[in-house]
Amino acid sequence: MKPETDPYQDAPRLPEEQPLDPRRLFSRPTAPLELEIGPGRGWFILERLEVAPANLIGLEIRRKWATIVDRRLAERGLAGRARVFAEDARWALPRFAGACLDVAFVHFPDPWWKKRHHKRLVVEPGLVGQLARVLRPGGELFLQTDVEERAEAYEQVVAAEPRFTPVGETARVADGPWGGARSPRERRALTDGLPVVRLHYRRGA
Ligand SMILES: C[S@@+](CC[C@H](N)C(=O)[O-])C[C@H]1O[C@@H](n2cnc3c(N)ncnc32)[C@H](O)[C@@H]1O
Repeated sequence: MKPETDPYQDAPRLPEEQPLDPRRLFSRPTAPLELEIGPGRGWFILERLEVAPANLIGLEIRRKWATIVDRRLAERGLAGRARVFAEDARWALPRFAGACLDVAFVHFPDPWWKKRHHKRLVVEPGLVGQLARVLRPGGELFLQTDVEERAEAYEQVVAAEPRFTPVGETARVADGPWGGARSPRERRALTDGLPVVRLHYRRGA
């Protein structure tokens, strides 16, 4: 039997240089740059591009979805404004140049419940520290989840990083100011009537 080839073996990867300034990957490098960690099926990126003048970069650990979404962006003529790379954000972010991002989104991360899977958690102190480094002063971090205990854990992790402060009196906000762009999981939660916890922080000077 012929060995099966992986249809996603050529998934898009970030350039290898370090430090990497991701702004230069886009046709207008001076535009604001927004990052989504774990875009999955990628609809948030498409919707956000319609309402914001920003460039967007997605880091998606699953090669299949990075390939499909990056290809979809190219087919729509948007490759100069947005790319999705097959990367583990925990390894990719330390390679980014400091203060290169304006906004970072983490929508519904961490669907791991078993203790043995906790090593896969994305929102942990190391990643939050990297986000504080790669967001410019005044930049924003937006996290959302439909699992209350996860939200509380995220609040604790971010509270321990002094470079982030809640945008309002607390980090919890009713909705994000993202022009109606929503992630696939967010749309499903809204359809199913699940409460969504949204956390919004600013990177201090
Ligand atoms: C529950 S899904 C949510 C997808 C999307 N954000 C949404 O809200 O619909 C979590 C996503 O994060 C991705 N992911 C998990 N760990 C990751 C990591 N370390 N780096 C990049 N992506 C990751 C998963 O592959 C998956 O696409």
